[in-house]
Amino acid sequence: MTHVPMLRVHGRDPLFGSAATPGDKSLSHRVLLLAAIADGDTLISGISGCGDVARTQTALRRLGVTMKDTAEGLHVAGRGPRGLSGPPVAIDCGDSGTTMRLLAGLLSGVDRPFALFGSPGLRARPMRRVTEPLRAMGADISATDGHPPLVGHGGGLRGTSVTLRRASAQAGSAVLLAALCATGETRVAYPAAVRDHTERMLAEMDAPLRWSPRESLLHGPVMGLAPPGGGRYPVPGDPSSAAFLWTAAALQPGGEVHTPGVCLNPGRDGLLEILRRMGAAVAVDDWRVVHGEPVADITVRAAPLAGVDVGGPLVPRTIDELPLVAVLGAVAHGRTVVRDAAELRLKESDRVAAIVDGLRRMGASIHARDDGFVVEGPTALHGAALAGHGDHRIVMSLAVAATAASGESQIEDGDRPADSFPGFVKTLRALGADIREEG
Ligand code: S3P
Repeated sequence: MTHVPMLRVHGRDPLFGSAATPGDKSLSHRVLLLAAIADGDTLISGISGCGDVARTQTALRRLGVTMKDTAEGLHVAGRGPRGLSGPPVAIDCGDSGTTMRLLAGLLSGVDRPFALFGSPGLRARPMRRVTEPLRAMGADISATDGHPPLVGHGGGLRGTSVTLRRASAQAGSAVLLAALCATGETRVAYPAAVRDHTERMLAEMDAPLRWSPRESLLHGPVMGLAPPGGGRYPVPGDPSSAAFLWTAAALQPGGEVHTPGVCLNPGRDGLLEILRRMGAAVAVDDWRVVHGEPVADITVRAAPLAGVDVGGPLVPRTIDELPLVAVLGAVAHGRTVVRDAAELRLKESDRVAAIVDGLRRMGASIHARDDGFVVEGPTALHGAALAGHGDHRIVMSLAVAATAASGESQIEDGDRPADSFPGFVKTLRALGADIREEG
């Protein structure tokens, strides 16, 4: 018999309670990479235990970085800005696009031949968005028809002005990581503001960097970097994980979820704005700045929801949460439109097609557009057999929809949430959901 992991969800009462979210995935990747090239050691606490971040850790070990897991956190021994140079290396990035794109930038700067490869899913992801700007800086890096594997030999970079065609934080971060070893000034211009974690962390590490929401400038080569967080870096909670809990709370009258200590980077707070615009009650408490990143305690409470129009600069600020906007749109009164989001078709799955397929099976009136979708609500969702499309965020979005649907849903790819949200099922259960893993 084949082993098919599945999530079984019975819709029932609204979700209620307080839940911790895993350490932020985007920050976990970055703090690992930057701690590895700092001058000195870093103790990282609260790092995400998700599969994608584990890929970045394994990659750094392959590159010779020493890491030690202790009760206090993960100790990373920094090797300095050029410390990753060495003999040829081949690195398996698994399903993690962030690992591959950020490493492409970092390794383009140091003297070392490299090959970056990944799973069949990762092989379908576009890579020209990183190889083209890196090549413009003089990097010897090439993709295979624009896709993984990436093969190169780092070194010899010159500062260059790069205008990105897509609002991609991964592409901009790859360029900035390469710029650390380039000679002269590198400028990255973004078509819209994106998460600026790399910029914030580099600034805290005393890198010669200036940035505004759509432009970053770094003067290389950088000879020394202070360890992130002054050597102790606590990773705040992941808003892209908390988003599933906020949405679950908002779906049914009486729902309320509190998530303490979540990162509120301005490039990632779009779902909270959308929830507010739709009518949900959103409270942001104890807003503070921790090592350059805004962090706050968030409470979302259900209230009657109305349809919403999402497009333009709000899209990059909500890029990972847009499938949840479809779920909210299905129960909201009126029309919800998401546009300018063609990028959503290039994630771990074609997320437009995947969420439209799943919600339609549950009875929603939703239609795909080239650059997004249109949902007419409200509909009373019903349980269904659902495809996960091998995509953690689709599996979790459908599971959240299923908590508010009548009857039972069975969702394929039940092991996928661990890619970004370890403990997803346990967390939902603690908030009152009837959900279990099978297989
Ligand atoms: C990420 C950036 C976004 C996001 C991804 C993580 C990052 O991707 O969707 O989940 O950590 O920089 P793009 O840069 O491709 O938009």
